[in-house]
Formats: sequence, structure tokens, C-alpha cells
Amino acid sequence: MDSRITARALSAALGGWRTREPAYEALADGIRLLCLDNRIAARTALPAERELAAALGLSRTTVATAYRSLRDSGHIQSLRGSGSITLPHPRREPGRVATGADDIDLQQASPAAWPGLAGVMSETAMDAASLVARTGYETRGTHALRTLVAERYAAAGVPTTPDEVMITTGAQSAVHLLAQTLLRRGDRALIETPTYPHAAEALRAAGARLVGVPVTTGEGWDLDRAEQAFARTMPRVAYLMPRFQNPTGRSMGDAEEAVIARAAARSGTVLIVDETTADLAIDPPTGSRDGAAHAFARNRVVRVGSLGKTVWGGLRIGWIRADASLIDRLVAARPPRDLGTPEFEQAVATRVLARMEEVLAQRATLLREGRDALADALATHLPTWRVPHVRGGVAMWVELDAPLSSGLVMAARAEGVYLSAGSRFAVDGTHDRHLRIPFTAPVGDLRRAVDVLARVWPEVRAEAPIDVIEPVGALV
Ligand SMILES: Cc1ncc(COP(=O)(O)O)c(C=O)c1O
Repeated sequence: MDSRITARALSAALGGWRTREPAYEALADGIRLLCLDNRIAARTALPAERELAAALGLSRTTVATAYRSLRDSGHIQSLRGSGSITLPHPRREPGRVATGADDIDLQQASPAAWPGLAGVMSETAMDAASLVARTGYETRGTHALRTLVAERYAAAGVPTTPDEVMITTGAQSAVHLLAQTLLRRGDRALIETPTYPHAAEALRAAGARLVGVPVTTGEGWDLDRAEQAFARTMPRVAYLMPRFQNPTGRSMGDAEEAVIARAAARSGTVLIVDETTADLAIDPPTGSRDGAAHAFARNRVVRVGSLGKTVWGGLRIGWIRADASLIDRLVAARPPRDLGTPEFEQAVATRVLARMEEVLAQRATLLREGRDALADALATHLPTWRVPHVRGGVAMWVELDAPLSSGLVMAARAEGVYLSAGSRFAVDGTHDRHLRIPFTAPVGDLRRAVDVLARVWPEVRAEAPIDVIEPVGALV
């Protein structure tokens, strides 16, 4: 057995699990979903029945029956005297977009590779002899690639030298390295909720206690809460996605950025700005908000970027832009995790960056098709859901007309459509009223997925306990 989850942590992760009757089946489904999402790893010890019953305010019999259901479905194993542990479950083959002939995987919001990429790889292979003549241990990144990244920042209004750039194996690796380098156990880290879950995991793994600041599709960032959180908790870092936030698709305006930048400066917080999705504009920019010429540009922030969404996730090229002294610290801290970014991929990225305008134009077309097809299908088949208009990014954060996101995800899964429930993106186990639907998949898949969602939604609603659909007080 590798790890255990406490009753409190499990109850927080379960969020709004009461999606149907009987309660034990809903609880078993909630735990299944956490296993499927990898939020509970295989071989994790579950809390004792009595403890979980107390944490959830349930009878012990309900928890015991839920565990029996999980045993019957092969999700857990219970051994006399040593409790229940989760079992490895048959996973989808990693790296495949769809699971079976008709399955549709919308758990990852990643567009197919930029069509020009294969050609660039072939061209790069012609340089193989000179590439292998290099030492190959690039903990900082090649000078050629760092120079191009720096030039792109300068063109966007953030003057940058190659010494202020470090190349990483994707933005994820960048966020993890920053978290490990900047945070000490017990430090506070401010983060949006909903957020990009693997960033939250990276901060937690560094020992941070997360302080969530709400972002909504309508109002954007809750600035009052943000200012209070900066002032009260003095977070060491704040991790934010100000352009096409994943999953809400919202962008900060100049005024919002100014408030955040001021509050962070007052509390001495390092702002980590993740711009992985920042270049994915679909509609033309509005007003004065364009490029990076805004409040963050004038402040010292740490920026994270990536070619993962713009070019291809499999390229595994990301970067950090920070002042040269922090870059030096990060380079020094890197070797225990990896000894650099592969030369070949950096050479490919160097060629691709020179063609970025072409790449981004293709992305805008692809994402516009997906967004419009998804919005049309949802408006036609699920008119009671609130669908935001997003101007860029990779996904829609759709508001359901009942807090049954987990139940919906389980029901859709049974029909071969794989999605992540709203709680997956929460810092605090809420967001059961929301579903993230990426529009990066082919249009035909998006339409079929919406057909399935529309088919199962009435059943999911019908099975829900009445007080979940109509909470007390909702009718006044
Ligand atoms: C906001 C954000 N940051 C980081 C990542 C990870 O990027 P990469 O594939 O470059 O590691 C993603 C990918 O989904 C993302 O959406």
C-alpha cells in the first residue's frame, strides 16, 4: 500500500457527491470518479468506514454498503484488519484521443498537432549530424531558442534578454520547478478557482496551502476576495492565468490586472503568470487589451509559456521568463528532476517559433470551428444550460441547471463520452454546477458528445434527490 487518504480529504474531494438515490450508490460513484480522474491513486488506503461516515454525516451502514459496491465493481479491495485500498483500474491507452471506435475523449483540452509540424520535424532531422555534435545537456535551453522566445516577449511589450529565459519540458515542468524552488512547506499559494488542476497539484506537492480566489465566466476575477486574500494570507506565490483562463476562458482587463499587481506587490507575493493559452485568441481583440502591453508587463512577474496548445502537446517545449537571478536559481535547482530539454525538440521549436503567426492563424480557425459548433449544439439540445461566449482558449465552462456535474460525467462515461466533472478544477471541492467542455476535438465528435449529454441529462436529473435539484430556500 503506497498512501492513504483521510476522511476529511476524501470528503473535501467528493464535493457534491449526492447525485442520486440510494445514497450509498451515489457515494460509490463519487469515489469511482475520483479513481478514474486519478485524484485517488491506485493502492491508496481509504478511511475506515466509521471515520468516513462521521465526516460525511452518514450512517456507517451507508458507507459500508458503498464500499461493498466498490468491491463488487472491482474498484477497491478490503482486507480483514487492514481496511480498504483502491485497485488499479483498466485505463485507457495513454496518448490516444479516443478509446474505442465510437468513444470520445474530452478530458484533455488539447488541439491536434499544427499541420505544418511533421514537415518541420523532417527538416530538422536533416540537421541531425550537427545536433548530435552538441553536448546535449541543456538545463538552461539552447541560446537560439531562448533568443527567439525573448524576441517574442519584447515584441509584446515585455523587453527580455535570452538570460531571462529558461526552456523547460513543457509548462507543467516549469510550474513544478517554480513551485519547488519558491515555496517552503506551509507557505500559502493563491490560486484561481476553478483552475488548471495540475498546477494546483504542483503547488500542493511543494507543500503549499492553497488559497482560492473565485473566477466566473460572467464577472471574471473576484477582486475583493483577491485583495483580501493577498492582505490576510500574505501568499508567497500567486498562480494566475490572465489570458483565456483555463477553464473559464476569461481574460483580465487592464483594471483587474492593476488591482492584482498592486495587491501582490503589497504582500511581497511572486506572481506566476501562466500564458500557455494566452496566444489562443479566436475573436479579434477588443479595446485596449492586446498582447502583453498591460499592468503585468510593467511589473516583475514570472511568466510561463508553452508550445503545448499552440503547436502540439507532444513537443514538450515550455519556458519560464523571469529576472536573470531567478533563472540562475532555477537552472541550479533543475538537475535533480531532469538534466535538460531534448535538443531535437528545441531545434524543432526554434524553427516553429519563426512561423508563429502562421501557426496562430491556423489555431484560431480550428478553435473557432470547435467553439461555434459546440455553442450551437448546446443551444439546440441543452437550452437550460448557461453557455458562456468565450473569445479564445480551449474550453467552455458551462453552467448546468442543477449541481450534478459528477453524476453527469459518470452517466456520459457509460455512453463512451469522457469528460472531467467541475470539481476536478476546484481548489475546494465545489463547482458541481459546472462542466468543462473542451472545443479542441473534431466538430463531429463535439456534436456527438452533446447528443449524448442531452440524452443522459434528463435521467441524471430524474435520479437526483429532490433537495439537490431544489435546495431549501430556492423557491422564495
Ligand atoms: C494553463 C496550463 N498550464 C500548463 C499546461 C501544461 O502545459 P504543457 O503541456 O506545456 O506542460 C496546460 C495544459 O493543459 C495548461 O492548460
